[in-house]
Amino acid sequence: MSKKRVLSGIQPTHDSFHLGNYLGALKQWVALQDDNDAYYCVVDLHALTVETDPKLLQKRTLLSAAQLIAIGIDPGKSTLFVQSQVPAHNQLAWVFECITGFGEASRMTQFKDKSQKGGAERTNVGLFTYPILQAADILLYQPDFVPVGEDQRQHIELTRDIAERFNKKFGKVFNIPQAQIIKSLAKISDLQEPTAKMSKSATSMAGVIEILDTPEAILKKFKSSVTDDDKEIRFDEKLKPGISNLLSIHSALSGKSVKEVESEFSGKGYGDFKSVVAEIVIETLKPIARRTNELMSDKDGLIKILQDGSERANQVASSTLKAAYNAVGII
Ligand code: AMP
Ligand code: TRP
Repeated sequence: MSKKRVLSGIQPTHDSFHLGNYLGALKQWVALQDDNDAYYCVVDLHALTVETDPKLLQKRTLLSAAQLIAIGIDPGKSTLFVQSQVPAHNQLAWVFECITGFGEASRMTQFKDKSQKGGAERTNVGLFTYPILQAADILLYQPDFVPVGEDQRQHIELTRDIAERFNKKFGKVFNIPQAQIIKSLAKISDLQEPTAKMSKSATSMAGVIEILDTPEAILKKFKSSVTDDDKEIRFDEKLKPGISNLLSIHSALSGKSVKEVESEFSGKGYGDFKSVVAEIVIETLKPIARRTNELMSDKDGLIKILQDGSERANQVASSTLKAAYNAVGII
């Protein structure tokens, strides 16, 4: 049986990915590359929707790629590439923009959230067309599955709608992909505000564990994490969101079930529990940070890896673009 194809992307908007990205998305990317034909993309064009210093964007694009390799994406198994190095993404996005309704794009909750936060003055048109570029990212590679976090479900739905509409209007060019959302690990919360999801856009980083944080910083963040006044280490997302989050993190990294972790810590204090969770996180992230630094210290080598990936991606993408251009009548 031939391998299924998967594709996903992540924005290089920060120096470091965080534990939510790692457990909610990236760990799954690594697991998928063995049995699938995987395409993973650092979406630097999407990152332009947020104003960034050019030098910083450059650095973050490389840092993101380095972290992906460090967590286990193997460029020999997966096609790892940078979005802007494959021009077909923009070219196909334009075609899709012309078959996407204004109302349809206006209904995207990520756009509504971001534009509300920024206000009309700071909202650029790129933010509005963002999901359409994302549809092009995906459909160019004809994937079967798109592994993403729950928050991306709506964008994948839009992608499917665009693909179906295109095929109906112009003849079948695109495979209709499915979102692949990991349920069990779908949400890691902020350590300071355990009812909110861990996010790069948090107002304070005190509750956000970054992959490249030092062990000292990680320990401090766990030690000061917000829990509750009760004493019991028990999973209850409503009444005990902080402890539940720590249990989820422990379970996700140790491979033990939440029940097992609960019984292991029954009768123990919150302080001990926090230290143990911190230790597991530190031990997981330490080699990842080390490998990231190694890769960053040989920039030319890293750029070469990405060029190879982009070349492979270009081959697939340009053939799909050609089919799409033919279908719409572009000579
Ligand atoms: P973002 O930070 O929105 O660019 O997220 C990149 C990927 O990581 C997306 O697929 C998200 O759904 C996933 N992700 C981000 N934050 C979390 C979180 N707190 N818990 C689980 N998954 C997350
Ligand atoms: N919008 C996605 C996010 O914020 C990133 C992304 C861009 C993406 N293009 C993609 C994800 C294609 C999957 C497939 O997480």
